[in-house]
Amino acid sequence: MGAKWLKDAVFYEIYPQSFCDSNGDGIGDIQGIISKLDYIKDLGCNALWINPCFDSPFKDAGYDVRDYKKVATRYGTNEDLYQLFETAHEKGIHVLLDLVPGHTSEEHQWFRESQKEERNEYSDRYIWTDFWLHGAAGMPYIGGESERNACYVLNFFKCQPALNYGFLHPNQSWQFSMNHPEPLKTREAMKDVMRFWLSHGCDGFRVDMANSLVKGDDEKKTGTSLIWRDVRRMLDLEFPDAVMVSEWSDPKLALRAGFDMDFYLNYGGVNGYCTLMRDYYYDEKHNASYFKKDSGGNINRFLGQYLDWYEDTKSLGYISLLTCNHDTTRPRYGLDPSELKLAFAFIFTMPGVPFLYYGDEIGMRFLNVPTKEGGYTRTGSRTPMQWSREKNLGFSTAAQEEIYLPVDPAEDAPTVAEQAADADSLLNTVKAVLALRHQEEDLQADAEFSVVCSEPGKPFVYRRGKLLLAVNPNGEEVSIDLNEENRSVIFSIGSGSLKDGKLSVGPQTFLVLR
Ligand code: NOJ
Repeated sequence: MGAKWLKDAVFYEIYPQSFCDSNGDGIGDIQGIISKLDYIKDLGCNALWINPCFDSPFKDAGYDVRDYKKVATRYGTNEDLYQLFETAHEKGIHVLLDLVPGHTSEEHQWFRESQKEERNEYSDRYIWTDFWLHGAAGMPYIGGESERNACYVLNFFKCQPALNYGFLHPNQSWQFSMNHPEPLKTREAMKDVMRFWLSHGCDGFRVDMANSLVKGDDEKKTGTSLIWRDVRRMLDLEFPDAVMVSEWSDPKLALRAGFDMDFYLNYGGVNGYCTLMRDYYYDEKHNASYFKKDSGGNINRFLGQYLDWYEDTKSLGYISLLTCNHDTTRPRYGLDPSELKLAFAFIFTMPGVPFLYYGDEIGMRFLNVPTKEGGYTRTGSRTPMQWSREKNLGFSTAAQEEIYLPVDPAEDAPTVAEQAADADSLLNTVKAVLALRHQEEDLQADAEFSVVCSEPGKPFVYRRGKLLLAVNPNGEEVSIDLNEENRSVIFSIGSGSLKDGKLSVGPQTFLVLR
């Protein structure tokens, strides 16, 4: 199982556009991130995931990479990024970059060459059909834009042509097998990108659409998994401490394919993860999220999916629970700060490696803002970090109309400065829970997890190693008889006790008992 440093890792995701603008041009940058490393460390996060910060036309916020090896000018230079790796390492912080292996920007040099009529080194780097009128056997494609007489397959937006990793079962004349030298070159090119950043000091990658490499008939992801296992072998040999976390949300497959961690994402409408904090997708009026006070939510809707995954994968790697990410509605949209305290305390005391999305630690809101850089309904979760009451809430000294996205205009917009001064704030609660996690090995990635009570109407009680934890998101005290010795509460949000075989958990309470 993966690099040792993951055992006590807590990640902080940074959307670089919106974190901290150091040069007053209205957009976040790498020097801004460097200036906030002490804040991140003090919060209790010891690893970063930075969304794509590479040269790009930014039609999908940077997930349309034009040059994998060059930092986008708006964020700084490659030297700035190397400095970030170095400074972060000095402070005990690991740094993951975002690897986008499934597609490039249509402006990438590989694609400019690939679309030419005359054959060249890059002709087969992308998936092309054999005639300008021939579609792509059910896959999304674009015709009419290339010099060559063919159509190309898309991986996501129109600006993102799919790279060619070959087909597990090719069934069209234009489809290559996975072992054909041309798709193998694509694979090597992506390893080359990884080696480039790893040899400059990065610690690994969050892998975008990790399950998307092999198209067509690859239902069980056999082909895609083969490629990742091959990449893993390369890492094990050349960069044994490097880690990969997949955007896949199927840990049974992803961890077997060689990933160290797989995100549990809000896929497929309301899944187990959604029922914790975002169960309003089908009915805006009724928020049935488990952590919503008195919602009648049921933790078994989460556990049903999670326990199956956990039991199957605990010896292979980690499931990563996350507060949110740049694609997902901020949890504050459905939960108030007192509810968020319990939700985050739960996420940060579960097995695996947790991820905190910038700004969630102060309960930043999902803002109603127009789409930016292909964000659409995701844009509201990508607004600038709220540091203080200074201009643009401390994000940037640029004129208000020049900043990347507007800041929260509400008078009570949460800020780091105010919450730092309030002992009872969400920020200080997150800090306290993370400090406890670092202190207690039983709360970290590897310690055993088991459910003691998940009955509706009772506290949710679980074990991590030798510790007992209890949560009650509702407004009334709940209790349960437990065949247990008396224990002392070593951490609490709210109040409760375990005495004479009775565990009492106060309203909106989270307890850790030893
Ligand atoms: C997933 C990323 O998280 C998302 O932001 C992006 O738009 C797509 N992949 C395409 O790369």
